[in-house]
Amino acid sequence: MFIGLTGYNHESSAALVDNKGNLIDYYKEEFLSRVKGDKSFPKRSLKRLIDVNELDISEISEITFYERPLSAYITILQTSGKNMPKSLPLISHQCRNFNKSSVACFLDIAKTYPGLEKKLSYCDHHLSHTLTSLAYSPNQNEICSVVVDGFGDRSTTSISLVHDHHNIVELWSCPYPFSIGLFYSAITDFLGFQVNEGEYKVMGLSSFGNENSEIAIKVSKLIRWDNDKKKIIQDMSFFNYHVDPEISFSQKLVNYLGNPRNPFKQLLPDDDDFQYYADIAKGAQLAVVKILRSIFSYAYQITKCNDFLFSGGVAMNSASLDQLASLDFIKNIYIPPSPGDSGSAIGAAFYSYLKNNIDKDIFISKPSLFPSKFNSNIQRKLASKIIDSNYKIIAEDIKDIIERSADLISKGQIIGVIIGNSETGPRALGNRSLICDGTNKDAVNFLNTKIKKRSPFRPTAPVMQESIAKKYYDVRDELIDCYKTMSATAKCKEGSESLNFPTTHIDKTARIQIIEKDHFLYKLLDALKNYNIHLLANSSLNLSGDPTSFDLIDSFMISSRSPLKYIITDFALLESIK
Ligand SMILES: [Fe+2]
Repeated sequence: MFIGLTGYNHESSAALVDNKGNLIDYYKEEFLSRVKGDKSFPKRSLKRLIDVNELDISEISEITFYERPLSAYITILQTSGKNMPKSLPLISHQCRNFNKSSVACFLDIAKTYPGLEKKLSYCDHHLSHTLTSLAYSPNQNEICSVVVDGFGDRSTTSISLVHDHHNIVELWSCPYPFSIGLFYSAITDFLGFQVNEGEYKVMGLSSFGNENSEIAIKVSKLIRWDNDKKKIIQDMSFFNYHVDPEISFSQKLVNYLGNPRNPFKQLLPDDDDFQYYADIAKGAQLAVVKILRSIFSYAYQITKCNDFLFSGGVAMNSASLDQLASLDFIKNIYIPPSPGDSGSAIGAAFYSYLKNNIDKDIFISKPSLFPSKFNSNIQRKLASKIIDSNYKIIAEDIKDIIERSADLISKGQIIGVIIGNSETGPRALGNRSLICDGTNKDAVNFLNTKIKKRSPFRPTAPVMQESIAKKYYDVRDELIDCYKTMSATAKCKEGSESLNFPTTHIDKTARIQIIEKDHFLYKLLDALKNYNIHLLANSSLNLSGDPTSFDLIDSFMISSRSPLKYIITDFALLESIK
């Protein structure tokens, strides 16, 4: 058995791969700690992997951390050293927090499971990303991997050629601190949203921006690709993330753009300064799209591959995918369901598996989107008192659950879904979702503002069967796998009804999900055809600011703190009686 771990920098997680190359279990620490974006050592996840799978420590062949901690630590210090005395705040922060950084991984494993630390190995950060995306790709040989990230080990962006599982060659990389991911995070910070959390908001906000506005053009010039030197050019005097741990942009950026947004004030579309901030977000989005197109073009030039793996935090920028995939040399882009750091535990576990099977003709089986043994049936007994006193069971048989749910949705109701195992990635794909009729404006609005209390400019994603996606949207063959994990937006077809759906964003796009045939939502959508409803709005099962529900108790908490009345579980459709 092989374990992969991530932590300390972004959301921490743990993954388990068996001796045959199957991903059999995976947890994000926030699932269990209920701390949004928990980046502490993934102690709970590691313990749960070992307990649920009844593992003895002797059965674990190797445990791999997803980056080389000293390399990352030294790279940051070396870069800071070149920027003295401006970088003193970062240097003292790094030194004070040495024991809390990822270099503590060895000790934290030893404290949790004494002896297991002797089996610890480290995987290059960008290789962890590549192996995660390779595992989910139907094509695992002669494929190009592009990792576009904030920072990892020593570089921020890389291009590798995957000949096969054992032969992955990095051909180009961009050194820290020049970084597309950290540029986007600095703009996120400038716009008053939380770094590593608010990037989705910037992406949503950018749709309202005017690409020809002076401010958007100014922002788009802050980072660019030099095609002669084949490098990313970024004037670091506008940024502070490489010298200061507290603020990621400099006074020069304030002088250049104007005042940053007050993070304590909600941003509403009717605000006087809304357009100004939307234009800034638009500029950042334009820069990312342009530079991604250049990097993929260069990747094609040096690898001659038409199929691409795409991962790293920037691969979560779903709004850039449609324009990226329009490049004529691209045949397929594969993005794993969790392309950011928390998904890299999967790649790190596969790294151990590959390392221990070096002489064998091995196989990595495509992981499930929901790899864990958990389902809400396990918790039914534990939660029986809560269910008896707070809920009425209105259907138990799966056929009845589907029929009653379809009827409720047709009447404009919102339903929480907690079935099977949890999603690995940040998108709700139907196992931990809030759903309603995706064509009913009142229902979608109620879901967004009354249940989730989200920012009003953030769109809600629609989920549908493939035939419906092709009817309403300009679906690209190059991105067909990405739509299954909600990783790419698609344009509404010209003159199509979808232009008026409440799940359609202001720029006439939607972050569509094509549901797979074996999923519960596919059967529910079949039943909804009787009501002439062909798509559902699908949002993660949480309240704004909280982690997505992991277990039954979490979903009951949501129902008790919001007007959510109905919950579909593995064993029943429940109605709140409070
Ligand atoms: Fe990363």
